[in-house]
Amino acid sequence: MNNNQPIGLFDSGIGGTSIWKAIHELLPEENTIYLADSKNAPYGRKSKEEIIALSMKNTELLLEMNCKIIVVACNTATTNAIKELRAKYDVPFIGIEPAIKPAAHNSKTQTIGVLATKGTLSSELFNRTVEVYQDTKIIEQIGYGLVELIENGDIDSPEMDKLLSTYLTPMIEANIDYLVLGCSHFPYLIPKIKKILPNNIQIIDSGEAVARQTQHILKEKIGFNTSGNSSQIFYTNADPKVLSDILNNKYPVIEKDF
Ligand code: DGL
Repeated sequence: MNNNQPIGLFDSGIGGTSIWKAIHELLPEENTIYLADSKNAPYGRKSKEEIIALSMKNTELLLEMNCKIIVVACNTATTNAIKELRAKYDVPFIGIEPAIKPAAHNSKTQTIGVLATKGTLSSELFNRTVEVYQDTKIIEQIGYGLVELIENGDIDSPEMDKLLSTYLTPMIEANIDYLVLGCSHFPYLIPKIKKILPNNIQIIDSGEAVARQTQHILKEKIGFNTSGNSSQIFYTNADPKVLSDILNNKYPVIEKDF
């Protein structure tokens, strides 16, 4: 493994760019390759077997592209497939899981909310984490329809406002003081979520923690890019406009069948 090789990231679509942004901010000298598997989104409604197969397909493409580490920038893929990925491939993997731990530790009302996909909330890995925090009431909500709207470029739509209000109102009524965003698409909804939640409810996502963990593994095991050049490459297997828009049209997006 060469320290100048790129960091590979994949997600079921454009949402994992929220993780990419956190990594790029912390490690701007690194080369990155991002795969948006938007053609197969949402992963959240698929079976564990399907999610494993798609995650392996994405991993193999990133390995062909010589990635030195793979960031699974998707909670659904991490909670359903990371064990199988680590067993099959030699490359180090960084996963992303809903940040239950900091929310449960800091909650004063001992009540927290988690908004995630069906695939994440029904996974064994997520449920094992939840069991550790028996003293905290965890209100789980599947974000039906949210990923689809984001993938269609419909963040600012009345439909989005309606769905968010339906999902968050019961959490507010239950007196949560932390809302955990358990899907890498959802940080893009934070401005909208903030309009619905009272000020005392904190929102937590996993972007910064994943970036710090990536930095740590590079430092300890692989090394940083020292070539003096870096590139940020984005591939999508669906409409490139939506991915380009979410990146504020700052990076070229390559269409590729994978
Ligand atoms: N962005 C994804 C996650 O973090 C998955 C969304 C989906 O494809 O359902 O779970």
